[in-house]
Amino acid sequence: MKSSAPGKIILFGEHAVVYGRPALAIPVMQVQVDVEVLDTSRAGIFINAPKINLHAELDALPADHPIASVIHNLFSTLDLPAPAGGLEINIESTIPVAAGLGSGAAVSVALIRALVLYVERSLSDEQVNNLAYEVEKLHHGTPSGIDNTVITYAKPVYFIKGKPGERFKVGKPFTIVIGDTGMPAPTKEAVGDVRRLWLKDPIRFEAIFNEISQISLIARRSIESGMPEMLGEIMDHNHAFLQEMSVSSIELDRLVNAARDAGAIGAKLSGGGRGGNMIALVKKEDAESVAQAIMSAGAKQTIITEVS
Ligand code: MEV
Repeated sequence: MKSSAPGKIILFGEHAVVYGRPALAIPVMQVQVDVEVLDTSRAGIFINAPKINLHAELDALPADHPIASVIHNLFSTLDLPAPAGGLEINIESTIPVAAGLGSGAAVSVALIRALVLYVERSLSDEQVNNLAYEVEKLHHGTPSGIDNTVITYAKPVYFIKGKPGERFKVGKPFTIVIGDTGMPAPTKEAVGDVRRLWLKDPIRFEAIFNEISQISLIARRSIESGMPEMLGEIMDHNHAFLQEMSVSSIELDRLVNAARDAGAIGAKLSGGGRGGNMIALVKKEDAESVAQAIMSAGAKQTIITEVS
């Protein structure tokens, strides 16, 4: 039994979304997690995830290990005992780990769906999403739920914490270049630091979150009405607010500036920040040259993705 899940990027509104403001995210289909569940003659449930160097029996993992907890939570939701054994779970991924591209949420979603197929049961997307959210809490502490939502539904989503994600229409396709700094993005730490700063200066941070909220609203309207070129300026503003919130880094700023200098319409960090990925809105014909400029400025990898 096999299942896959894509990566994701946040277009607008990261961090502010943890405080109830709207954010926009899209799936990134160029990278994905593939999970395969097979019968095996050996007793036990064996998990192979070469990308994170994990080759272990389920029983040997701590109960709060994200993969172990996906499996345990799933079987308790299904009201089934975990299979007595003879199971091999292979997890392959092309999503960079700890890069803000949702690799953890994608593993959860693909693993849940592959196991559900294996036990010949079914779960609604909403149930898959809820289970994946439980595991996100282990990864990130106080996640908004945007990552698991966009990855479960694999569609662009306008998201407000605690509400079902809203689909939105893309009036005219647009092109995004994603650049990976190669530095780890410690989402939990970044989210925790923003919380400390917010507690210290709630008036300033609430004002920043309100500005970002407006940015997400304008972004949704621009995308729906087929005017994606309007996104460039607000992308730059969103990046400036993220810098003010302390979640950018020298490497992210370098790639953002390189993209702008190479003709991107706008650029910002994407996701938790500190490391991980940035995104640039480009004209389709400029995508390759902007991607090259980002590489020359030190990116480890770039992905060009069309939002439609
Ligand atoms: C991480 O992809 C996005 C953050 O806003 C955290 C979250 O929403 O849970 C930084």
